[in-house]
Amino acid sequence: MKEYKIAVVGATGVVGEMMRRVLEEKKLPIYEYAFFASKKSAGKKITFMNSEYEIKELKEDSFDEKFDFALFSAGGETSKKYSPIAASKGCIVIDNSSTFRMDENVPLIVPEVNIEDVKKHNGIIANPNCSTIQAVVALKPLEDKYKIKRIVYSTYQAVSGAGKHGINDLENGIKAYGDKKIYDLEKFKYEIFNNCLPHIDVFLDNGYTKEEEKMINETRKILHRPDLKITATTVRVPVMNSHSESINIEFENQFEDEQLVETLKNSKGIIVKDKIKDEIYPIATVASGTDDVYVGRIRRDNSIEKGVNIWVVADNIRKGAASNAIQIMEYLMD
Ligand code: A2P
Repeated sequence: MKEYKIAVVGATGVVGEMMRRVLEEKKLPIYEYAFFASKKSAGKKITFMNSEYEIKELKEDSFDEKFDFALFSAGGETSKKYSPIAASKGCIVIDNSSTFRMDENVPLIVPEVNIEDVKKHNGIIANPNCSTIQAVVALKPLEDKYKIKRIVYSTYQAVSGAGKHGINDLENGIKAYGDKKIYDLEKFKYEIFNNCLPHIDVFLDNGYTKEEEKMINETRKILHRPDLKITATTVRVPVMNSHSESINIEFENQFEDEQLVETLKNSKGIIVKDKIKDEIYPIATVASGTDDVYVGRIRRDNSIEKGVNIWVVADNIRKGAASNAIQIMEYLMD
């Protein structure tokens, strides 16, 4: 069996750390690893698969030693500069930033949904936004069966999606509560502890946030439905990990309630948790640490003729980032 050499870029970040953990779990045919981050982390030692590795500073010549794959999660600017360099040296980049997602020459992939698109890559493959990934895993089987007419997204997103500084803001808020201590916010404009902030990424001229726009555009691209009607409100909530989403879907075609639930149950990557008489539904603490997308609270939208509401929860750092990227890489390994 062929063996590969891979690089993890942004290896010290929240997603980079998870990439290391998922790689340890999966035991893929990889004979050599290299871990890159900024100058600040260069020389730092990490333990990976029971061996010690040194974090290297990412530089323009980092990809001169031949890599088969590079998993990038080091922010948009780093991707913009270094992904094309890596790709020009024959390395396949799987990029977690938003830089290339809407580039028509770059496939945007969720393996359960549109893995066949990956064949069109030119050296760079984009990993979608975390909230989009879990949404489209749930939407794709319904799109195939009933054809979607319109989607309304409302998200409840964990602080881990905002990186280490986001996690620190919630942890510091929890520690300070009761003691009435003053602490400096590292990431958010307002305290995330005790608040829901309807503001993820920057505001755009049209009043939406960039996160909302990403969900809209990326869903259209992944489902191959460029004109699909979608609206979104994305909210940061004081949850450490795993995003929750309320998704309202209107279909073109009529559906039977039971058949819709069965369709979800029989789809790859989905676990249906929906037994309201026992108060069973998807929650963030159950999704955390897994690669599945949990769907529950499935109920008809009685305000329209052909609509349904679903509640979708997944680990935003695993399925929403690291695991999705590694699944793409696995697919490309012979
Ligand atoms: P470092 O830890 O050295 O700053 P997070 O989003 O969780 O904060 O993680 C961001 C990741 O991206 C970290 O691994 C960080 O490394 C890395 N990173 C940030 N800027 C650069 C850069 N210019 N070159 C390489 N890695 C970078």
